Amino acid sequence: MTQAAPPAHRPIRSFVRREGRITAAQQQALEQLLPRYAIPADGTPVEPAALFGRSAPLGLEIGFGDGAHLAALAQARPDWDFIGLEVYRPGVGKLLQAVAAQGLDNVRVSTEDAQAFLRERLAPASLDAIYIQFPDPWPKKRHHKRRIVQADFALVLRDRLKPGGELQLATDWAEYAEHMLEVLEATPGLRNATGPRAFSPRPANRIRTKFETRGQRLGHGVYDLVYRRD
Ligand SMILES: C[S@@+](CC[C@H](N)C(=O)[O-])C[C@H]1O[C@@H](n2cnc3c(N)ncnc32)[C@H](O)[C@@H]1O
Repeated sequence: MTQAAPPAHRPIRSFVRREGRITAAQQQALEQLLPRYAIPADGTPVEPAALFGRSAPLGLEIGFGDGAHLAALAQARPDWDFIGLEVYRPGVGKLLQAVAAQGLDNVRVSTEDAQAFLRERLAPASLDAIYIQFPDPWPKKRHHKRRIVQADFALVLRDRLKPGGELQLATDWAEYAEHMLEVLEATPGLRNATGPRAFSPRPANRIRTKFETRGQRLGHGVYDLVYRRD
């Protein structure tokens, strides 16, 4: 008698897939622009020089939301290329609208899970900067395992950075900020750019996003962290 196959291993995800409300313009941007700006979800290793048609410093934003920071960054640094990762399709549509309106050619996006994307598709030492702003805090204790900043993923983030590359994070959730410090201070090869266990001054590139505004409305502080790969 053959035994039933064990259930496939399901990774713990840092997000819940939700469609939310999508505007007609966002839907149109997805249909018309995603084919041009998307990194094909074909599982192959990402080759930045082929993707962008040049060799340039490469930044990557995880969970870019509506893309306001990513679009501003790409506009401010035309000599850099940027990859944006976001599973929330209305947000991707909004970013694409901005990318097209501003005529940006240095942005590519993927709607794949960022954790799998970094682990499986990006070569070690390929990134000059990684940005993670206001990641979902998963405040309930039983959900803490869903937080994207975890010891094992921190090792992946470190490995995907070039030596000297920068990891920037921001959160409005004090207890998650402490958790980030715990995890990142203990990650070999990552050095706190501000000093051991120190929060950073606000990085110049970090514009105010919707989630920062929301946090402040709720009376939350904002905590910035900047690490460099040795
Ligand atoms: C709280 S929002 C913050 C958005 C934006 N960074 C900001 O500051 O406004 C977190 C975002 O991360 C996205 N996200 C969470 N986990 C992700 C993952 N594993 N891969 C891609 N996107 C993810 C969510 O869909 C959500 O839009």
